[in-house]
Amino acid sequence: MSQDSIAVGSIAGAPSSSTARGLWSSRWAFFLAATGSAVGLGNIWKFPYITGENGGGAFVLVYLACILVIGIPLLMTEVMIGRRGRANPEGAMAAMAKAAGASRHWRLLGSVAIFTGFLILSFYAVIAGWALAYAPAAALGEFAGLTGESSGALFGAMLGDPVKLAGFGTLVLLLTLGIVALGVREGLERSLSLLMPGLFVLLLVLVGYAATTGHFGEALHFLFDADFSKLSGQSVLVALGHAFFTLSLASGAMMAYGSYLPAGTSIAKTAIMVAVADTGVALLAGLAIFPLVFANGLEPGAGPGLIFVTLPIAFGQMPFGQLIGVLFFVMLAIAALTSAISLLEPTVAWLGERFAIGRLKAVLLTGLALWLLSLGTVLSFNAWSEYTLFGKTFFDSLDYLTTNLLMPLGGLGTVLFTGWVLSRASVQEALGIGQPQLFQLWWQVLRWVTPLGILVVFLHSMGLF
Ligand code: PHE
Repeated sequence: MSQDSIAVGSIAGAPSSSTARGLWSSRWAFFLAATGSAVGLGNIWKFPYITGENGGGAFVLVYLACILVIGIPLLMTEVMIGRRGRANPEGAMAAMAKAAGASRHWRLLGSVAIFTGFLILSFYAVIAGWALAYAPAAALGEFAGLTGESSGALFGAMLGDPVKLAGFGTLVLLLTLGIVALGVREGLERSLSLLMPGLFVLLLVLVGYAATTGHFGEALHFLFDADFSKLSGQSVLVALGHAFFTLSLASGAMMAYGSYLPAGTSIAKTAIMVAVADTGVALLAGLAIFPLVFANGLEPGAGPGLIFVTLPIAFGQMPFGQLIGVLFFVMLAIAALTSAISLLEPTVAWLGERFAIGRLKAVLLTGLALWLLSLGTVLSFNAWSEYTLFGKTFFDSLDYLTTNLLMPLGGLGTVLFTGWVLSRASVQEALGIGQPQLFQLWWQVLRWVTPLGILVVFLHSMGLF
């Protein structure tokens, strides 16, 4: 372990193992890791298809509002708790509660977050496997001359093949487990500084291509003209859930990464930069995809297959499409991998610190459980597609439970804990916002606007007003 792995700035009562936990080498490294966690399938795969399913502009507006008044304040809170507690999310919550003289049970919020991340990873790996499967398909020229219909058929054939889905999903899991077993610092920091700009450039290329389809204006209308009559209570809940999902909140990821953040770095600035990068990638993905949807007579509300059906059509037609297609799906898979790592880290850190087992053992145990659970998602696209609970397949249920229920409720708990249980002075000190007015603004938003925002969305989604 390197010299700087001394737990500076941690509170008394945090586990002493914290001295051996390691730290990011710089604020920039933390920014890359947090952005790597935030930018992933959520931005490129999920954001476009849920926007399509929920009617476009009004949904995007609600989502942006959720990022601003709920996502950013909570992101800052989670990083702060991780850094102060210097432990896995459960341990960090316990340490914070103890230092504040509050009930030990607050640590359960950390436990639930860890479990949420674990559940998400079980399906996230399967979807990331789709991207991995599409990279060789692009290389082999399978996208040449695709139409809306034949592209849909190609995607359907993949979903219908459980062995292929399980194979690529397993590959993603193995890669994630391997990186986390080795410790994230070297590999992650280095690969991310190449990957993030690369992904951005490729997305710009795709937006450029989409602009040539003649349907760019239609896409702009769809994404940015808000027609609130298209917005149901459920859509608002989906927008809120997605704000959590895309910023990696309430799943242990940001708390775990915050626990490796050196003291003295500005949490506020970094959090805002992460949110801006994350939102930018999502909007670019929308601008790349919707022109193709409209140009090829596809349905915006087609569901989880949206980018896997639309983008290959573009790759099949554009100059150098074969190469760009491979690059795109490889980058998407890597972007998913850097998110998957952050989904695994909390569980592994928790097992290691709570039960004092080695990192490798913790990784193997978690990996086995994840793999078994991931088969449920694999089968929900084929053999089990008819088995549904409240009209939802196994995958849909996991997605709904984590993103639309556990994340918002867990986030609400963390916000209330910070705003109403911890003292103002201790939070101000831990957060390190220098300007008093700025802190005051953040503090009031966190105490009032964020929790009320979450509650209002919940009550609205239940049809209460
Ligand atoms: N934020 C990631 C994405 O948008 C997913 C994620 C969720 C990662 C929760 C970590 C924790 O793809």
